[in-house]
Amino acid sequence: MSEFAHQQCIRPGCSATFALDAVIFRCPRCGSLLDVRYHWDRVPLPRRLQEFSQRWSTPGRSAASRADFSGVWRFRELLPFAQLADIITAGEGRTVLQKADQIARQVGMDAGRLFLQYEGFNPTGSFKDNGMTAAFTLARRLGKRRVACASTGNTSASMAVFAALAGDAGAAMQAIVFIGRGKIAYGKLAQALDFGALTLQIDGDFDACMRRAVECAEKLDIYLMNSLNPFRLEGQKAIMYRVLEGLDWEVPDWIVVPGGNLGNSSAFGKAFLELHELGLVDRVPRLAIINAAGANTLHELWNHRGLRWHDGKYDAAAIDAHYAALDAAGARASTIATAIEIGRPVNLPKALRALDAMDGVVRQVDDDTILEFKALIGKYGFGCEPASAASLAGVKLLRDEDVIGADERVVCILTGHALKDPDATVQYHTGLDSKQAKMPEPVPPTGLHANQPIRVADDFEAIRRVIEGSAH
Ligand code: F0G
Repeated sequence: MSEFAHQQCIRPGCSATFALDAVIFRCPRCGSLLDVRYHWDRVPLPRRLQEFSQRWSTPGRSAASRADFSGVWRFRELLPFAQLADIITAGEGRTVLQKADQIARQVGMDAGRLFLQYEGFNPTGSFKDNGMTAAFTLARRLGKRRVACASTGNTSASMAVFAALAGDAGAAMQAIVFIGRGKIAYGKLAQALDFGALTLQIDGDFDACMRRAVECAEKLDIYLMNSLNPFRLEGQKAIMYRVLEGLDWEVPDWIVVPGGNLGNSSAFGKAFLELHELGLVDRVPRLAIINAAGANTLHELWNHRGLRWHDGKYDAAAIDAHYAALDAAGARASTIATAIEIGRPVNLPKALRALDAMDGVVRQVDDDTILEFKALIGKYGFGCEPASAASLAGVKLLRDEDVIGADERVVCILTGHALKDPDATVQYHTGLDSKQAKMPEPVPPTGLHANQPIRVADDFEAIRRVIEGSAH
C-alpha cells in the first residue's frame, strides 16, 4: 500500500498506529477514533497551494486526467494514501463557492464578505461524494465486496452510486443501507432505491441504525462507509481546499457548517491543522458548528457542560451521562432538518479537536428558523435542503451576538441540494401538509427492477438473514 500513510489513534495518550489496510474503525487498544496520518517528509508536496489550480482538466482516458477532473483528487498530495489506478470517481467536488451579497445584506454582513459553498452540486447532490470517492478507493484496494452505512439519506444515496461505479471498474460491490423508522426525505430514499442498494428499514432511529451497521460490518466482513471510516473524512478535507481556491487561496475568517454526525467539522479541522503544520497556510479560520435545536447534543455538551478537547483528555463521562439522561427521558432527536437528526454523533471527539484547533463556537437553531433561512438562500438563487440552511441561520445568530463581525469573511457550507427534500420546500411555500418524510407502506412491487425497502426488526440475527439471503 502507500509508503506515505498509516492509521493512528487520535487519543494523544495512546497514539497507537496501524497499517493502512487494517480494517478497523476504532482503536483496538483504547476504543478511540482513528485518523489517517502521513509521513509528509516523503510526500512530493507543492510549495504553494496555488500550484493546485493548474490541475483543472477535462476527463481524458488517463488515470491522472480522471483524477484531475475530481475536486477531491486534484489535491491528491494532501490525502496521499491512494494509488491513481485505484481511484473510483464520479467527477465529485466540482462545486461552487458563490459570493452572496444580497443574502449578506439580509444577515447584517458587508458586501463581499459572505460566501456560500454549494456542495449540493455534487453528482449525488450532497457533500458526501467527497468522502465516498476516498473510502471507495480504499475499499477497492482492499478487495471489499460489500459496503454498508447507516444513513439519514445522503450517505446512502452517495454510497449506492459509488458501489455501482465500483462494479463498472471491475470491483463489484453490494451496497447495504440502514435507514430508521423515522423521517427520511424522499429525494434521498429515491436515490438509494433507484441505485440498487439493499435498503433495510429497522425499527429504530439513526443512532440504532448506526449501531447495527457497525455490528454487521464487524461480524459479516462488510466495509463500513459511515464517517467513522477515517478515509471518508480524508476526502471531505477537499471541501476546504476548494473553499481556499475559491478565495484565491486566502484563508477566510469563519467556516460555518451544520453539525450532524460531525464528520465534516472533523474533516475541516484536520484539513487546516495539516495545512498549517505544512506551512501552506499562515493561519486557520474559526469554526462555527450549528446544531438543529431538536438534535443538539454538541450544543448541550459544549455550551452547557463545558466539554472541551483538553489535548485529548476530554470528559468522556460527561458524554456518557448526557446519553444516559437522554435514554432515561426517552428523548429522541427530532427536527425538520432530517439529515442532522442525530442524537449520538460518532465523530464527537474529533469535532472537539477541530473546535479547539479552530477557536470554534457551537450554536443551535430551531426548525422555523432553519426553514426561513432555507427560503432566503433559495430566493437568491440555487437553494439547499433544510439541514444545510442551519449554517446561514447560525451566521445570523452569531452576527446578532456580534461574535461574527460584519466585515469578516464568512463561508457557509451548503451541504445538500434543495431537491433532496422537495416536500419541505413545497410545504413552506404553499402551506400544504405534504406527506413529508414518511416511509411508504410496502406494496407488492410490479416493476422489473423494483427494489423495495425491507422492513426488519432491530435485531442482528434478523438483519443477518436478510443480508445473507440477498447475496449479490
Ligand atoms: N447536511 C446534510 C445535507 C447531511 O446529509 C448531513 C449528514 C449533514 C449536514 C451533517 O454532516 O454528519 O458531517 O455533521 N448526513 C448523514 C447521512 C448523517 O446519513 O446522510 P455531518
